[in-house]
Amino acid sequence: MSSSHELVEKNVGLMAALILVAISFGGLVEIVPLFFQKETTQPVTGMKPLTALQMEGRDIFIREGCNVCHTQMIRPLRAETERYGHYSVAGESVWDHPFLWGSKRTGPDLARVGGRYSDDWHRAHLINPRDVVPESNMPGYPWLAKNTLTGEHTSAKLQAFATFGVPYTAEEISKAPYEVQGKTELDAVVAYLQQLGTAIKSRRE
Ligand code: HEC
Repeated sequence: MSSSHELVEKNVGLMAALILVAISFGGLVEIVPLFFQKETTQPVTGMKPLTALQMEGRDIFIREGCNVCHTQMIRPLRAETERYGHYSVAGESVWDHPFLWGSKRTGPDLARVGGRYSDDWHRAHLINPRDVVPESNMPGYPWLAKNTLTGEHTSAKLQAFATFGVPYTAEEISKAPYEVQGKTELDAVVAYLQQLGTAIKSRRE
């Protein structure tokens, strides 16, 4: 046995440090290329940035904790794709800051819920889920229909996303408040839900 090998085997601290170096190389080799692969850094073809109203809906979705019960991440497993549709791809999440993949499914995954139900169904469901799904244990959100949007921070939200690389034009940012003013929070959440996952759906059809 060479003396340097013996040194490592007899010195636990040194061995632990070297094991860490070896493992971190393995991690780096897997992780670093993901930062440079187009597939993981570029939006899927045909994807559109959220409109001002959808952006407000997304914020209300987060405020109400919808993402605590609903994932937005369809795994490439048959049981999931049969139920929810095409598995989620990284390019669909590049403009989502922070992404809402989630990890707990008390309710169904919502990654491709866009277009699955009518706007009216969503309105009834969000106000009182039991009206349309009798066995549902999802809470109702009746106040969404009463709260009106002022548009006060809408431009700032779009501007913030623009700095993350979401392609909003100056015109879209300046007009944003007028697109949401007077609309209800319910309008915004429904608009947000109806676009979820549609970039890939339309590509497959
Ligand atoms: C406590 C957990 C919980 C929370 C919080 C919750 N949901 Fe649900 N959700 C469920 C369950 C359970 C179902 C399945 C029964 C049903 O359809 O009502 C469901 C169903 C849904 C569906 C129908 C999905 C499908 O494919 O059929 C939508 C859309 C939805 N929720 C949106 C929302 C939104 C938006 C919010 C936040 C405003 C929210 N949920 C908050 C538990 C939850």
